[in-house]
Amino acid sequence: MMSRTPWWVRIPVLFFIIFGLMEYFVDSGDKPAIIEYPITQFFMLMVLLILIAIEVILKSIENVMFQTLSEEAQERYLAAKSKKIEFKWLDTIYKRLTKSRSIEREGEIILDHNYDGIRELDNVLPPWWVYLFYVTIFFGVVYLIRFHIAGDYDQELEYEQEVAAAQIAIEEYKKTAKNLVDVNTVEVLTEAGDLSAGEKIFTANCVVCHMADGGGGIGPNLTDEYWILGGGIKNVFRTISEGGRDGKGMVAWKNSLKPVEMAQVASYLLQFQGTTPANPKAPEGEIWVDPDADAPAAPEETEGAPAEQAKDSAIVAMN
Ligand code: HEC
Repeated sequence: MMSRTPWWVRIPVLFFIIFGLMEYFVDSGDKPAIIEYPITQFFMLMVLLILIAIEVILKSIENVMFQTLSEEAQERYLAAKSKKIEFKWLDTIYKRLTKSRSIEREGEIILDHNYDGIRELDNVLPPWWVYLFYVTIFFGVVYLIRFHIAGDYDQELEYEQEVAAAQIAIEEYKKTAKNLVDVNTVEVLTEAGDLSAGEKIFTANCVVCHMADGGGGIGPNLTDEYWILGGGIKNVFRTISEGGRDGKGMVAWKNSLKPVEMAQVASYLLQFQGTTPANPKAPEGEIWVDPDADAPAAPEETEGAPAEQAKDSAIVAMN
């Protein structure tokens, strides 16, 4: 009952097989089980200890049996043990892949020229190399047909697909990461869910000073186009987050509201624009114009560009 593989191969192999099986069968989401459930670390430690224990027991059984043998039998046993090749199958594979001639039989393939005592063996091409060569030929043919004749896809298409996939991933990410908004990235939210959440936040925190319809009280009127601290989603977000001017009563809400909540309530209160509240407070501040919106000149410019180009080419043509 002698095992063929040595213990220092057997223990790690068994250990990693059990480890792999455990990871496969224990459902631990996208984290490995060993991290998700610390108890499994203890389990694997026990496995390791048991494997070592089994080896130790086998070794001592072998030892005891060895002691019971007669001296002659002991010698035979030792001889058999030292002869045994532990990686016979590896050895066979190696031989098959190289087909190298053993040194004793090299005489059969030696060529008869002799350069200053250096002689050449007529070895066959090593099979591993030959097969690899066939594989590259096969690969080359498939590649040629697929990409140069059939025109499956090219790098440009591949690039576009990857960009499209990344775009989708970004959209997905933005949906789950709404809380990452800050004053630079905030945009008006239009989804009904966000707006009703904004309304709740407004009712709970803001109506005391701004009134439910935004008409104003302690705080200014939010329905007109006059803003003290600037209109538009970014300014409003900043006002809510950082508060108004000192001593005016509008506190900074960034400590009590999450970024997404501030974006929601900002989007909600921007809907007051242009409505007529019951008791409107007189306008305060200045009319706010969106610097991004006052670019109606831009389309004209782009329209002008082709005309100019045409002019240029006309000149070129004239020349
Ligand atoms: C204690 C009263 C009070 C509460 C509560 C309050 N505000 Fe204000 N709010 C004010 C005052 C006062 C100002 C004017 C600040 C200034 O003049 O600097 C103001 C200004 C603002 C402005 C800027 C208006 C402008 O013309 O620039 C916005 C936007 C605003 N508040 C939103 C909110 C939101 C959203 C909430 C609830 C989360 C809220 N406020 C809660 C008193 C309040």
